Amino acid sequence: MSLNPKITDWRGQRVWLLGASSGIGAELAQQLAALGAHVVLSARRAEVLDSLLQSLPGDGHVALVCDASDQAALLATAAQIQAELGGLDLAVYLAGDYVPLRAWDFTPQQVRQLCEVNYLGAVNFTHAALPLLRRAPPGKSGGLVLVSSVAGYRGLPKALGYGPAKAALIHFAEDIYLDLHPQGMGVWVVNPGFVATRLTAQNDFHMPALITPEVAVKSLLAGLASGRFDIHFPKRFTRFMKFLRLLPYRAYFALVGRTAGDKE
Ligand SMILES: NC(=O)c1ccc[n+]([C@@H]2O[C@H](COP(=O)([O-])OP(=O)(O)OC[C@H]3O[C@@H](n4cnc5c(N)ncnc54)[C@H](OP(=O)(O)O)[C@@H]3O)[C@@H](O)[C@H]2O)c1
Repeated sequence: MSLNPKITDWRGQRVWLLGASSGIGAELAQQLAALGAHVVLSARRAEVLDSLLQSLPGDGHVALVCDASDQAALLATAAQIQAELGGLDLAVYLAGDYVPLRAWDFTPQQVRQLCEVNYLGAVNFTHAALPLLRRAPPGKSGGLVLVSSVAGYRGLPKALGYGPAKAALIHFAEDIYLDLHPQGMGVWVVNPGFVATRLTAQNDFHMPALITPEVAVKSLLAGLASGRFDIHFPKRFTRFMKFLRLLPYRAYFALVGRTAGDKE
């Protein structure tokens, strides 16, 4: 038996995307709209959301600006979705930010900000979206998708703020799956490898198995159609990252430390 509902027919599905203004989120909006879904676009940049909204095929799409760190704004946006669309079938959290941080140059404030968008924002989003999702008629596929990262698997160079937040998000997804799966709801965690977006444009190192947002979204949708809980791509990279999780610390630190680059 599969761990989650298999989503293969997107026609008429009401999908809320938080983090829709660029990168993987913007591409997901395009592909879902082309498949017949009604998409709610959310992020902080209103003008970018508006031009994306104009470019979407199909109908029934809306753009609602909100900041993931603002719990009250998320609740207000959820109320607006309920009023305008009568509920939700799927809620997808894609908001994220990355700043490379090393032991000798981080501040607690930077780490807090990365936790805010990469983890606590997802908690705010889940809290706001769940009541709408739970009203979905029984038997209708749907639920919650949380986009984390393979950077959440184990300690990595430059990941002092981003990595722990993504690790927390993977844990949160597992916790909430245990509660919501018995109630018939889907919960997915998505762990991409390197995708060419604004987020990775700043990286000054070779990114193995780098893929485009278009390929990433095709893999994400294939994952949602497969009924798995853990959606990861591209497999040629993420399987290696999963293998690294199994290594004892001595071997892991030796292997990953070699790629750490500069020192103080
Ligand atoms: N690219 C990769 O290689 C990669 C790998 C693994 C995981 N991921 C994850 O995939 C997700 C999407 O990232 P991406 O690569 O597509 O990066 P991106 O192009 O920078 O997109 C990030 C999105 O998050 C939104 N966002 C940021 N802070 C927000 C906030 N406080 N409130 C609401 N929205 C906010 C941004 O919109 P506004 O600025 O308009 O608010 C934007 O739409 C992230 O969670 C990222 O960690 C990416």
